[in-house]
This record gives sequence, structure tokens and C-alpha cells, in this order.
Amino acid sequence: MFHAANAGTGRAVPAKVLTNADLEKLVDTSDEWITTRTGIRERRIAGWNETTASLAAVAGRRAIAVAGLEPTDIDMIIVATLTPDYWMPSTAALVKQAVGAERAAAMDVAAACSGFVYAYSVAHAQILAGFARHVLVVGAEVLSRFLDYADRNTCVLFGDGAGAVVLSAATEPGGAKGIELTTDPAGAYKIWLPAGGAAAPASGETVAGRGHFLRMEGRETYRYATRTIATTALAAIDRAGWAPEFIDLLVPHQANLRIIESVSKGLGFPMERIFINLDRYGNTSAASVPIALAEAVDAGRVHPGDRIVFVAFGAGFTSGAVAMEWTADPAAAVRAASIGPDSVHVVIPDDWDSVGPVPEVLVRVFAAKGIDVTAAGKRTATPAAPEGPATEPAPDPRPGRPVRSRRAVAGRGPGPSEPMHPGAESPSPTTEAIA
Ligand code: ACO
Repeated sequence: MFHAANAGTGRAVPAKVLTNADLEKLVDTSDEWITTRTGIRERRIAGWNETTASLAAVAGRRAIAVAGLEPTDIDMIIVATLTPDYWMPSTAALVKQAVGAERAAAMDVAAACSGFVYAYSVAHAQILAGFARHVLVVGAEVLSRFLDYADRNTCVLFGDGAGAVVLSAATEPGGAKGIELTTDPAGAYKIWLPAGGAAAPASGETVAGRGHFLRMEGRETYRYATRTIATTALAAIDRAGWAPEFIDLLVPHQANLRIIESVSKGLGFPMERIFINLDRYGNTSAASVPIALAEAVDAGRVHPGDRIVFVAFGAGFTSGAVAMEWTADPAAAVRAASIGPDSVHVVIPDDWDSVGPVPEVLVRVFAAKGIDVTAAGKRTATPAAPEGPATEPAPDPRPGRPVRSRRAVAGRGPGPSEPMHPGAESPSPTTEAIA
């Protein structure tokens, strides 16, 4: 009988920081309101040269290194995201190319903020069934491109980033012992992105109606979250045959500090045993739990044999929890330092050169701070420092920049024999960096 052990963790967040004070310039809000109602002080924003796939690829490549594996060892890549680079191909397919996981099957999972937990459960099942030996599970989001920066109810809550875990088949006991997944369709339209799908295809009308931005009924989501985090985590703990008092660390979805405090009180679970980083990243949806997990490992909060529970909730309403015995050696986390943010490249097609993906309002906010997020060829962020030892929180890594493909997408530009610009004759997909 195989077990699905945690072999490695990784994370990647953009260098650009959007503070509560920055948001005061965009909507009628205040640092005081955001801090007291949510606990969030700042969040990360992807730059012009960063996408969900590029963040996912760096986090994933780091997790593979920490696991002591080569990308070619990976049998499957699962990316949980509600902000994919494209409707198709899957973001996982782009990550596969970027990390060089030549043998891996690749697919995305859509379960909103619970997506990572759902993806983790699929990886676990693949390994237990004997279908895969090593599975890379990534939660990655660039939510800043799907937020209405005129809507104070949502834009203050979310941020960008990616976290990853490698699960490996092992004969030693360890890994997930109890998993609980739920979906409550009563919440189907409490958090949603109305336009762009088959029910409301993109049109001038959907753009004018701001239908391509995330919408949320905050109070109902809040009520659901406090209830479901507790019941879902308890169900997973129960399936493992454990009790809450034997849990060493709870890693909850980082949505709102008040939600977490309420769960802590309800379960009688002390805040000291709950990992929190939402003050620095806000809610990064499917990336929230794996970023927190990777940080907890780097911060020395997780040791082999520890009983860890991670739990998430989100649009759908979905929720999920995993109660697990930790297996990975935290000292191995230093290997993530060997993966520089620019050593992993996602290919994007030439004919999308002109697409400037950063919302115009954010371009202006960063410009006021002297940061140009639009100029091609310019690196505006300060270089990332090397990651620290496993016992200290590692500095935030900067993600890799996408690289242009020489191939044009059919019908949208010149083919390989018709170079788009001088120097584009080479068919190599990885020779020219964008930013
Ligand atoms: N700044 C200032 N005032 C604000 C802001 C803001 N950013 N946002 C809302 N307000 C106002 C509201 O308009 C309201 O004013 P009114 O009384 O005049 O109508 C007032 O503050 C109180 O609004 P509430 O919604 O009651 O505020 P609440 O204390 O519930 O906090 C919040 C709102 C933070 C959104 C909270 O409800 C929450 O965290 N909900 C859960 C959200 C969540 O976790 N979402 C993640 C979903 S996961 C996914 O899958 C994407």
C-alpha cells in the first residue's frame, strides 16, 4: 500500500506591493477599515511580465527542487486556479512546458479558493491508486486582473501569488489521513464572475456592464465561511481518527482575520497554532493555502511527524480540508534558493505582444510610486535576495518572466516563416524575454 507523502513545497509572489494606503487613492476606504475588518495590510500585484502560469511555474519548480526531484520525474501537474492565463490551453500545460516536466500529464482544477485542496485530493488519489508516483500540485492566481478597482467591497481583499506541493508515493506511513470536500450550491452566485463563459460570452455589453470582474456578497460569504471552515476541518480531523487538541498547526484559507479568529474561538483552537500571513498577501484564492504552507515550512513551524490541517472555502460554495501527517524535511526547503525567478520561462505567443495586462488604475498607482509596470524591457522591481535557511522565513521570491514564442497563433499573426520583427527568425521558443 502506497502513501502519498509531502515531498516538497515552493512559493512565488510578485515583488510589487499594493498597500491599503494605495487603495485609499482608488476607492472610498481607509487603512483603518481594511485592517480592522479584514486584517489585511498589503497584497502583491503581478507586473506586466507576470502571469498565473509564470508564478505557478516558479513555485512548482521550487517545490520539485525541494523534493530532490528532476522535472522529468513528475507524472502529473495539477494547477488550481480561477484566474487561468487562457480558457485554453490549461495553465497546467503552460507550467509543464516551463518547468520541463516532459512526461507529465497536465490539467487545471476549478474550485475557486478551495481549488488547491481539491487538487491535492486528486493527486493523493492518483498516487494511492498507483497511477502516478510524483504529482506537482499548484495553487496560483493573478486576481488583480479580475477585480473592479472601483468596487471597495472586493478590490481590497485579494492579491496575486502561487504556492506548490509535490506529493510522492512512499512506503512509509504519512501524508493525508483524512480529507473532506463539500459543495453547497446555495452559494453558487454569492461569489462569481458573471461574463466570459458560455452563459454570457464576452461582448461590448458584458464589458460595459463590468461583467468580467469578480462579484461577491460579503456578509453571506462571511457567515458561510465561519461555519464551513470549522465543520470541514473537523470532518477531516475526524476521518483521520484524531481530535482538534492533537493538531500541531492549522493552515486556513487566508481570507479574513476575523473569520479565522471566530473559527479559533468556535473550535477552542488557540491562535498560536494557526498560521497567518494574510496581513501581507490578502486573499490569494487557490494560492492562499499552499503559499501559507510553504511559508510555515520555511518559518520552522512544520516538522516531520506533525499533524497539520489545511482548510479552505470559496465560490461555489466549495470547501475542503486535509488532515495530514507531515513528511518533508524542512531543511530541504533551502533547495528552493537554487531556482531563481528568471530561470523558469513560460512561452507566450508573439501576437499578444501588445496586450498590457495590468489594470490601468494600478499602472497609475504604481507610477505615482515611481514604479513603471508597463515598459517592455525594463525591470522595475528590486532583485530578489537569495532565500534564507529553512529555519527563517525566506524573502519573497520574484517570479520568472514569460518568454515569447516565435510561433504565431493561427489567424492572429504571421507564422514562423514570417517573422514579426527583426531577429525573430529563430524557431526557438525561449530565446527572447519580454520585460
Ligand atoms: N472600505 C470602507 N467601507 C467598506 C468597504 C471598504 N473597503 N467595504 C465595504 N464597506 C462598507 C459597506 O459598504 C457597508 O457600508 P453600509 O453599512 O453603509 O452599507 C459597511 O462597510 C459594512 O459592510 P459589511 O459588508 O457588513 O462589512 P463586513 O464587516 O461584513 O466586512 C467583508 C466586509 C470584509 C467583505 C466581510 O464580509 C468578509 O470578509 N466576507 C467574506 C469575504 C471572503 O472571505 N471572500 C472570499 C471568498 S473566496 C473565493 O472563492 C473568491
